[in-house]
Amino acid sequence: MRKKIAVLPGDGIGPEVTSSALKVLNIIGERFGHEFTYEEGLIGGVAIDQTGNPLPEETVELCKKSDAILLGAVGGPKWDQLPGHQRPEKGLLGLRKALQLFANLRPVTTFSSLTEASTLKSEVIEGVDLMIVRELTGGIYFGEPRERIEKNGEEHAIDTLTYSKSEIERIVRKGFELAQVRNKKVTSVDKANVLESSRLWREVAEEVAKDFPEVSLEHMLVDNCAMQLIRAPKAFDVIVTENMFGDILSDEASMLTGSLGMLPSASLSATCCGLYEPIHGSAPDIAGKGLANPLATISSLSMMLKYEFGLEQEAEVLNEAVNQVLSNGARTADLAKDASHALSTDEMTERVIAALSVTSYT
Ligand code: NAD
Ligand code: IPM
Ligand code: MN
Repeated sequence: MRKKIAVLPGDGIGPEVTSSALKVLNIIGERFGHEFTYEEGLIGGVAIDQTGNPLPEETVELCKKSDAILLGAVGGPKWDQLPGHQRPEKGLLGLRKALQLFANLRPVTTFSSLTEASTLKSEVIEGVDLMIVRELTGGIYFGEPRERIEKNGEEHAIDTLTYSKSEIERIVRKGFELAQVRNKKVTSVDKANVLESSRLWREVAEEVAKDFPEVSLEHMLVDNCAMQLIRAPKAFDVIVTENMFGDILSDEASMLTGSLGMLPSASLSATCCGLYEPIHGSAPDIAGKGLANPLATISSLSMMLKYEFGLEQEAEVLNEAVNQVLSNGARTADLAKDASHALSTDEMTERVIAALSVTSYT
């Protein structure tokens, strides 16, 4: 198989984790006889510095003619004082919108060897396997108006949370489709006791559920969900939710695995190739120090192999390699009990590559 991948390293630890992940993908390519080629594009702060624009048109064009996109992270203190529409984050939001990447899949799977890395008790987190399906191109992130206005002699700021029925329908349907091939349970998370958009969300979820008689649907308020994720995470299968709720709940859920540096994601579109990225940000506090955990990005490539290219065996082999290095005790600083014995980004990457070379493929 020949595939062309657009690589958008971005800012902070973005370049460190994407270059690690590509080294691993090259090994998969060699072992299984696939040719993966890469073309880099600018996004985020680095794009602002070089072009004045967080999302240059060439980057969108590059993504549109590629078979998949790998992204590192965007943002950092250097650009924090810029107005909203010029910030690095606007580059990522603009790309999600331009490519209609409406379905953000964030799987949360715990590794038994990592139970002590989590702040939670092992009996709570052992065997967790859930999928957060986050709506990614609507909701309060994109609603209009969004502005500052003067009212009653005072400055006000406005953000708007709006959803159309069709936007809700397609993301909830995606959640049900995933649940159908998993454990057949959808938890639709909203704030229907307060928000009108959530009440529409519930109605649509009920309608979609009729097409999936084998899948059970429960509704849960988002504040309760935040608590249940810590209390009894094994009770969840697929969580489907609004853009900002999904953003917050997924960072919270990452701690079930032990670190934000473990969680991968896939952002899927009906019309374009998918974008694969770790859920974490540019981690300015550790950027450039070789401390970043590359596993979230490596696992995002495993999602690319599975969801974009249909290469299930390759994806499985990569997951197994990650599992093996963790079982053998490999830890970057975010996971290590004793940070002075932690592996660097490159050392962790080398461990994954070594594990790939001893994994059997049939
Ligand atoms: P962050 O995710 O960058 O970092 C939060 C904490 O987790 C930090 O202590 C960081 O060191 C740690 N961490 C994150 N990823 C790690 C990894 N792979 N290995 C080890 N430790 C890791 O969130 P933040 O500090 O709130 O945001 C920093 C910047 O990143 C902001 O500009 C924000 O807008 C941006 N951001 C971008 C994305 C993205 O590009 N998708 C996502 C989230 C935040
Ligand atoms: C994420 C990030 C982004 C989001 C930011 C950087 C715009 O937090 O991918 O989770 O909020 O979607
Ligand atoms: Mn986030």
